[in-house]
Amino acid sequence: MSLKDKIIISKLPEHIAVIMDGNGRWAREKGYERIFGHQNGVKAVRNVVEAAGDLGLKYLTLFAFSKENWCRPRSEIDALMDLMATTINSETETLIKNNIRLLIIGDRVRLPSRINGELNEVTEATKNNTGLTLVIALSYSSRWEITRATAKICEDIKAGKLKEINEEIFNSYLATSGIPDPELLIRTSGEFRISNFLLWQIAYAEMYFTKTLWPDFGKEDFYEAIISFQNRERRFGKTGEQSK
Ligand code: IPE
Ligand code: IPE
Ligand code: MG
Repeated sequence: MSLKDKIIISKLPEHIAVIMDGNGRWAREKGYERIFGHQNGVKAVRNVVEAAGDLGLKYLTLFAFSKENWCRPRSEIDALMDLMATTINSETETLIKNNIRLLIIGDRVRLPSRINGELNEVTEATKNNTGLTLVIALSYSSRWEITRATAKICEDIKAGKLKEINEEIFNSYLATSGIPDPELLIRTSGEFRISNFLLWQIAYAEMYFTKTLWPDFGKEDFYEAIISFQNRERRFGKTGEQSK
């Protein structure tokens, strides 16, 4: 029996975010170059996107490349960018066929222009799709996003376009504007940290950490994380009795 059958569809989170970590270690353990791990990580992405779509999940956000990742060796960055370009090309048809809408969040000025061009084409081609919204965080960091939001708010206040700030308004200035907060955050590879990912948005997310390295993360692992989520009591500051 697949773990999928244990998932209560009516209690599915609306939004799951994933820190896809461990590609490099996966490859090194096998005696390969780190890029081999990234290549195999793409297969895991395909599996999880498919599983999310089949379950009827509304939003899936994947952390693919952080702003801090620009500090990696040039050769790894170049190989990752090449892999991204090939993946966007090879996956566009599948996204369209499966009614998936693609969104990109992150500081895109540092991305090579060919990647930006291709990303613009895919986001445009899938913008009216009504199934899963797949958000890819690329060249993303939460502090960048929060700082940029604050700067934009200041500009709008100065220009007289904005009179007050509250949580809802602040939220609308983030890159994730219009997207509900993730209820579940998964991180693979046994690291217990957030690495500058969605700091504002995960205020009340349930955390799920697994030792599994990203290229080994399959549909069953994804279902297991959702089942763990469904077995938790989310209290939002209230008492257990109030939350029942
Ligand atoms: C995650 O795997 C992918 C990216 C950060 C691009 P890593 O490349 O971080 O793999 P490890 O953590 O070194 O094993
Ligand atoms: C976080 O992984 C970024 C992505 C998964 C894209 P890292 O491997 O870069 O995180 P740290 O540096 O170990 O915290
Ligand atoms: Mg890592």
